[in-house]
Amino acid sequence: MAFDYRRKPFNRPVIFILGGPGSGKGTQCEKIVKDYGYHHMSTGDLLRDEVKRGSKRADCLKQTMAEGKLVSQDVILELVRDEMDRSRRAKGFIIDGFPRDIPQGLQFEKSIARCISIMYFECTNEEMTKRLMGRAKTSGRVDDNAETIKKRLHTFEEQTKPVVKEWGRRVRTINAMRGVDDIYRDVQTHMRNLQMYHAQNNWYCNYY
Ligand code: AP5
Repeated sequence: MAFDYRRKPFNRPVIFILGGPGSGKGTQCEKIVKDYGYHHMSTGDLLRDEVKRGSKRADCLKQTMAEGKLVSQDVILELVRDEMDRSRRAKGFIIDGFPRDIPQGLQFEKSIARCISIMYFECTNEEMTKRLMGRAKTSGRVDDNAETIKKRLHTFEEQTKPVVKEWGRRVRTINAMRGVDDIYRDVQTHMRNLQMYHAQNNWYCNYY
């Protein structure tokens, strides 16, 4: 089924989590969810679940991921929207690995919800490659291999990085070249600032 662009937006805080492959998005999200209770969804995990279910489009999705390319916007928005629908009572949403390009983000904000902030985990290609090659020994992921990692890095550079500039002041860049706990301290500071700011400004009344 194609994504329905006419459905109503969500009235809950949404935070996008951005960073190159292996920058540690998933690792940090696990910690955020434990401490803040937002509903976490990773677009990569949603796609892998869809592949596991063996739906009609599973082969095509698997192939796209193995090539390190982006899956089509309609499929991603439909999966994200459905997952948000299933978790309507969540106090907020952390969307990990999204948006992967500017049009995805713009369309999400137009038809689903406005994001209050983007956390961008900045890391060098060398470090990301090292982490992913380490994970490749056990992950079983079709895209954790030297050739696909290069392609994923290229896709990130060309299509995802422009998102950081586009969302400008809503982006908080975090140095991800450190240990997990050091990175998380910055995440906590940012989450605290966001909560304070939005409590003072009663954010959801202002947005819609
Ligand atoms: P996705 O599953 O989102 O993969 P990714 O963005 O490439 O990122 P990873 O999940 O591999 O890494 P991560 O940053 O979460 O790092 P992690 O914490 O796991 O996407 C896969 C594919 O699906 C895409 O290529 C695309 O084809 C498709 N797709 C997904 N979303 C899409 C979208 N919105 N639109 C279109 N297509 C989409 O950590 C990695 C490793 O490093 C782990 O072993 C971890 O233990 C280790 N580690 C983490 N932090 C540290 C640290 N600080 N120091 C040392 N090691 C660390």
